[in-house]
Amino acid sequence: MSVASVIHSETDFDVRKIREDFPILKQQVHGKPLVYLDNAATSQKPQVVIDAITRYYTLENSNIHRGVHYLSSQATMAYENTRTILKDFLNAASEKEILFVRGTTEGINLVAQSYGRTFFKEGDEIIISAMEHHSNIVPWQIVCEQTGAKLRIIPMNERGELLPDAYEKLFTPRTKFVSIVHVSNSLGTINPVKEMIAMAHCYGVPVLLDGAQAVQHLTVDVRELDCDFYVFSGHKIYGPTGVGVLYAKQELLEKMPPYQGGGDMIRSVTFEKTTFNELPYKFEAGTPNIVGGISMTAGIRYLQSIGIEAIGAYEHELLEYGTEVLSSIRGLRLIGTAKNKTGILSFVLDNVHPHDVGTFLDVEGIAIRTGHHCTQPVMQFFKVPATSRASLAMYNTKEEIDILADAIKKVMKVFS
Ligand code: ALA
Repeated sequence: MSVASVIHSETDFDVRKIREDFPILKQQVHGKPLVYLDNAATSQKPQVVIDAITRYYTLENSNIHRGVHYLSSQATMAYENTRTILKDFLNAASEKEILFVRGTTEGINLVAQSYGRTFFKEGDEIIISAMEHHSNIVPWQIVCEQTGAKLRIIPMNERGELLPDAYEKLFTPRTKFVSIVHVSNSLGTINPVKEMIAMAHCYGVPVLLDGAQAVQHLTVDVRELDCDFYVFSGHKIYGPTGVGVLYAKQELLEKMPPYQGGGDMIRSVTFEKTTFNELPYKFEAGTPNIVGGISMTAGIRYLQSIGIEAIGAYEHELLEYGTEVLSSIRGLRLIGTAKNKTGILSFVLDNVHPHDVGTFLDVEGIAIRTGHHCTQPVMQFFKVPATSRASLAMYNTKEEIDILADAIKKVMKVFS
């Protein structure tokens, strides 16, 4: 029996025990217990991640790949060990396919500038979707400006689901790349990426997946998906800010030029000529975020110790409960009602601006995000200026959803 199939309720999952591991959740905000529902923006950190940061600076701090002394070899070992943990986490074939970046945004920019700028030509086409985060739109627009390539957009329906037939029709002999979000940050839609990748590969086109909102909720196996690039951020998977991962197939990385130049990415330098280091170091110029890499993997190990399937099943239960509770509020419209979703509850209220909702909820100790969520085209599609978004994580509870619903009802009363 799989772990997921034995998780039936909050009690089985032991969310109370999990909450104990997140010190920040114990505090009060404006005199009310904190209800943290802004996990798609960033998740909170378990004590093991905080401890990993403290331990690193207390006992291990040193630069890596550069020193023969004890501390440097300890730090290098710890850092390179995280690459192996990440390789296993994504089921990549080799550590050479795991690049450390600052986060999802930098990962996509790296691919756009290294792969795109090298291989795109005037008139080439890059497919993205109608629900992309700005970080999966703007880097491609920049490379289009530089190369003369053009963007093509996969449309979506009113539930916030991409249209497979329209996707297939976008392919032409000029299609050179597909870059799509695995899970939408503003709608929660889980895209059928395996099928979408298979289709792109029928046309010989590589695919990048933006996994910033996926890896913390779903099992991701890059070899099973057969994606060419996969990117995610540490801070959304219970790790620190400023670090993330770009997975790329080795054969593609071998063909790609470095993204940035500097120390550590070279083999030899003279004023006449520089030769580059082997993979993955060719793409990692300068001193990296060492403590970030180490503590990010502490977060991933914590998540693995609970079980990603168990987390996904529990969050799904919360999503179903939240959808039912919020849908029953008169004057509330959910934005993003795809069949296959993670724990995102985006909504608008009749006659109340989302920023007022956010401000009012804050006074109640509830943290949600309001705005366009860096997905302005999604807002344009749904003809709303912004939404209020509650986003769920493994430590949230049904009780917190009830507190949210009661606060929303209060807002509506005040503004009616
Ligand atoms: N992209 C992050 C969000 O959806 C910051 O909130």
